[in-house]
Amino acid sequence: MLPNLNEARKRTNNIVNTIKYVKDSKYSNIGVGKKYYIKTYGCQMNVHDSENIKALLEEMGFSEVYRMEDADLILLNTCAIRENAHNKVFGFLGRVKHLKEEKTSIITGICGCMAQEESVVNEIKDKYKWVDIVFGTHNISELPKILSDSIKNNKQAIEVLSVEGDIVEDIPVKRDSNYKAWVNIMYGCDKFCTYCIVPYTRGKQRSRSPKDIINEVKNLVKDGYSEVTLLGQNVNAYGKDLSLNYYMGDLLKDVAETGIPRVRFVTSHPWDFTDDMIDIIKKYDNVMPYIHLPLQSGSNRILKLMGRRYTKESYLELFNKLKTIPNVSITTDIIVGFPGETEEDFNETLDVVNTCKYDSAFTFIFSPRIGTPAAKMKDDISLEIKNERLQRLNDLVNKYANINNQKYLGKTVSVLIEDKSNKEGYLMGYTDTMKLVNVKCDQKYLGKIVNVKITDVKTWSLTGEIVK
Ligand code: SAH
Ligand code: SF4
Ligand code: F3S
Repeated sequence: MLPNLNEARKRTNNIVNTIKYVKDSKYSNIGVGKKYYIKTYGCQMNVHDSENIKALLEEMGFSEVYRMEDADLILLNTCAIRENAHNKVFGFLGRVKHLKEEKTSIITGICGCMAQEESVVNEIKDKYKWVDIVFGTHNISELPKILSDSIKNNKQAIEVLSVEGDIVEDIPVKRDSNYKAWVNIMYGCDKFCTYCIVPYTRGKQRSRSPKDIINEVKNLVKDGYSEVTLLGQNVNAYGKDLSLNYYMGDLLKDVAETGIPRVRFVTSHPWDFTDDMIDIIKKYDNVMPYIHLPLQSGSNRILKLMGRRYTKESYLELFNKLKTIPNVSITTDIIVGFPGETEEDFNETLDVVNTCKYDSAFTFIFSPRIGTPAAKMKDDISLEIKNERLQRLNDLVNKYANINNQKYLGKTVSVLIEDKSNKEGYLMGYTDTMKLVNVKCDQKYLGKIVNVKITDVKTWSLTGEIVK
């Protein structure tokens, strides 16, 4: 089945059922003795989808390799959010093609958000006939069947549902970390910000049932995990599509009460942030004082064109409320060069950055996405001006990131040590406020939450040593 933009745009009243994935043993031998390589682009949602895909492949007998050249199956889990994400995938496909020419038995596949795009799949059908399988974000649990069919029929298999189907529970997962875990709480997005492709690639908002989420977290606690990040495009809207009278504040509370040492959540759309959530964050020490609160623009005129549903004033009001959470760190996303953005509009964005003094920000140049309303808006700002605005914005963001980090010098903070650092003799982890810290310590601290005294500060990282 091929993706269809008009179908993807629709919001149906279909009742969302929850079904359970059941392993079908008829696919169990397909991958025995074979190796897979998966490359993941995009957000945490995709990273977590890849964790499911890996486990599905391993159920079929495949084992993972980390060099594409060693693989019998190469999968690209793609992102469609901006043009450069899209170009990176097509660039990488060129390399995959070379390999496939040398070793024709390699199976190649594309999944993720680009697979949901009608225009992309048409291109793959026409110009990339050697790609064996394409499957969408709503078809992950069908991977064993899709793969098996493609091998049997020896022709390109495309399986992309445009309209979201059921929520599938119990898909196996091979987590990248033994210490921190991604937990989906909802799928899709109904906000339809005018620039954004996500509502088309991920379907309508569907919240998982509270029971399934809490059980997953309880099992993670049992398995020794120290941190969960609750994932959704819009976590604050959790539960609004269920009729349980149970919302994000309730979920945060119940997840906190599982006793997992650290709870995080991304992303928070400013529109749905309730006072109840703020109270819960303040009340529970294991809900981390870190909030990602995308601004996108500081100009009310542009915010309206973006369909963001808040004004500069209401954003700042929320921001100030969040600042009453002790020790909170707040980060954001900003787009420059939205169609028609004037120098005055841009200055309003700088103005908000000067007011909020973010801990950090992801900044982007507007990228028109096929099928979205903003892609049709008149865009007469030159790339030169967009680049220049991005530069000015980044300079300001970096300034405040550095000022915020300086406050940590000499302080003792708690860090979950999670991996090796790029720095020789150091491991790395994050503070409760999501600051990256390189810690001089022994491997035995991996997976532990430790107290670290900060001895050096840079704009994007801290350095420190363990104190008792
Ligand atoms: N659901 C999140 C955003 C997910 S996408 C939210 O609403 O906050 C991550 C970020 O990518 C967005 O916050 C936005 O800043 C950026 N982005 C999305 N679409 C874009 C586009 N077409 N061009 C440039 N940046 C974009
Ligand atoms: Fe995109 Fe807006 Fe939904 Fe975020 S809230 S995923 S920016 S449409
Ligand atoms: Fe990209 Fe899809 Fe995530 S477009 S940002 S991978 S939801």
